[in-house]
Amino acid sequence: MIDVQDLSVSFGSGASAKQVVKGVSFSVTKGETLGIVGESGCGKSTVLRSLAGLDRHWTGTINLDGTDVDKDRTREQMLLTQMVFQDPYGSIHPRHRISRVLAEPIRAMDRGKGWDKVAAALEQVGLPAAFADRFPHQLSGGQRQRVAIARALMLEPEIILLDEPTSALDVSVQAEVLNLLADLKEARQLTYVLVSHDLSVIAHMCDRVLVMKSGVFVDELTKEDLYEGRTHHDYSRMLFEASAL
Ligand SMILES: Nc1ncnc2c1ncn2[C@@H]1O[C@H](COP(=O)(O)OP(=O)(O)O)[C@@H](O)[C@H]1O
Ligand SMILES: [Mg+2]
Repeated sequence: MIDVQDLSVSFGSGASAKQVVKGVSFSVTKGETLGIVGESGCGKSTVLRSLAGLDRHWTGTINLDGTDVDKDRTREQMLLTQMVFQDPYGSIHPRHRISRVLAEPIRAMDRGKGWDKVAAALEQVGLPAAFADRFPHQLSGGQRQRVAIARALMLEPEIILLDEPTSALDVSVQAEVLNLLADLKEARQLTYVLVSHDLSVIAHMCDRVLVMKSGVFVDELTKEDLYEGRTHHDYSRMLFEASAL
């Protein structure tokens, strides 16, 4: 579903140019959840933003569902991926009712007004249909992130890119949101790339994990490796020990 070859991302130009992602290659099969873990600033979000088509500073090859995508995505290519961000406060328009937040992607793609799809969208993320009339500030952080997830699903993408989807939430609701994501993946045969600095989140969700450090992947861990605490690189060992899994 995803094949990335030699992806590099640099910001700035000339002497001040900074290479943030340094020639990484990886692939993700349909229905798989790939984790990317690593310290803040190592380049995780930059990889996701390149995959999502939100960032144009990349070189290399990105193939999504059999198509090499360009820096400027066609409408069809845009529909393949959706991203869920860490901060549901920032990613949802504060003055739009939830119904409008959810209908927006449908409208933006000229697929109708979208109002008819709002109730079902709320239901599938475990929220009452009556929430359609609320404003974001009338929802809890976990409820808002459910709305962000529902919005990401409106156009029925194959691939969901999850950037620290539970990091801004209270610990008590993190597991609920992760379980929702796991259920939705199962029901819709979605492919996930899940970025987190939290190894316990990654271990709970992922089939396979890439460990990122300073713009490169230094280790790859299977689910079995995660369960058994097996690493192949000093850096991942250190992450494991720090997270006390
Ligand atoms: N648009 C940008 N312009 C300049 N530097 C950026 C930009 N986006 C990210 N960076 C830099 O790239 C590095 C990696 O950032 P990021 O991918 O957000 O890391 P992570 O998600 O792993 O915390 C950081 O040093 C960050 O400051
Ligand atoms: Mg990030």
